[in-house]
Amino acid sequence: HSADAQRTDLMTITRFVLNEQSKHPESRGDFSILLSHIVLGCKFVCSAVNKAGLAKLIGLAGETNVQGEEQKKLDVLSNDVFIKALISSGRTCILVSEEDEEATFVEPSKRGKYCVVFDPLDGSSNIDCGVSIGTIFGIYLIKEDHEPTVEDVLQPGKNMLAAGYCMYGSSCTLVLSTGSGVNGFTLDPSLGEFILTHPDIKIPKKGKIYSVNEGNAKNWDGPTTMYVENCKYPKDGSSPKSLRYIGSMVADVHRTLLYGGIFLYPADKKSPNGKLRVLYEVFPMSFLMEQAGGQAFTGNQRALDLVPKKLHERSPIFLGSYEDVEEIKALYSADE
Ligand code: AHG
Ligand code: MN
Ligand code: MN
Ligand code: MN
Repeated sequence: HSADAQRTDLMTITRFVLNEQSKHPESRGDFSILLSHIVLGCKFVCSAVNKAGLAKLIGLAGETNVQGEEQKKLDVLSNDVFIKALISSGRTCILVSEEDEEATFVEPSKRGKYCVVFDPLDGSSNIDCGVSIGTIFGIYLIKEDHEPTVEDVLQPGKNMLAAGYCMYGSSCTLVLSTGSGVNGFTLDPSLGEFILTHPDIKIPKKGKIYSVNEGNAKNWDGPTTMYVENCKYPKDGSSPKSLRYIGSMVADVHRTLLYGGIFLYPADKKSPNGKLRVLYEVFPMSFLMEQAGGQAFTGNQRALDLVPKKLHERSPIFLGSYEDVEEIKALYSADE
């Protein structure tokens, strides 16, 4: 009986978030409506990614974005879908996307109280070879007592109400935190619903995997070089860590969250602020890591304490298992 009950008691992401929101008596369902539109965008991108090769959706769009990157067709398509879905939710007032140089200010008649920062398609370099890619998003509350400006978005990550990512891999998995833990949902294509499959995700305190682009080793600073050296040639006689690097932040972070270990995109001589963007890559992933019992460090401070000055600002990032990040923090503080 209980197996049947389990099978028919479908915990969809919509139901899960409604339950969560019922704990906040003041909420009028706005967040649930916003989230349902983000979920719609993820379902659309999932379907586009799955048939990209067939639908001639791979390859370049012939434009470059503010990052100076050649935009892929899927970058542009995903961005358009998320912008439209978020505006149509009627719950957003400012949208910040990796693919748009300026923030989008929603027209007053469709304006709500949330600001969404997002990376519509993360891991674009992996699109054409079919390796996992994803979408990353973060949600801020905007004070509604004034005309919204960019300043309203330049908030530290610790102010985020919620953050999450959707990974388009062998299955489509959406990982979300609304500030009280982390939960994972898997898309059941036959239902078109995200079903709770990873309740209350906690990252192992210590891991056996490090994840970094070793191709940048020539340009790393001392502490990073020392840390990676220790991963390969442990001083305490323990066995070396394994290296796993997919090159899509969403996939590398998802593996780190579930298996433990550390993901690093350090500063290097060529890019003193590293590569990953603060608002829609570093903050959402750092938020999730802390909510799962891990931590996230920039080389100078707790990542969520950073106050961005520009929309597309970058920061070095070291995130993952609590004890693994402690080791890199010790190396950086010894370096001061
Ligand atoms: P995006 O495709 O959204 O521009 O992000 C790519 C990022 C991130 O997904 C990944 O961790 C990193 O680029 C990989 O960079 P390298 O290829 O320099 O290692
Ligand atoms: Mn990009
Ligand atoms: Mn990205
Ligand atoms: Mn991207």
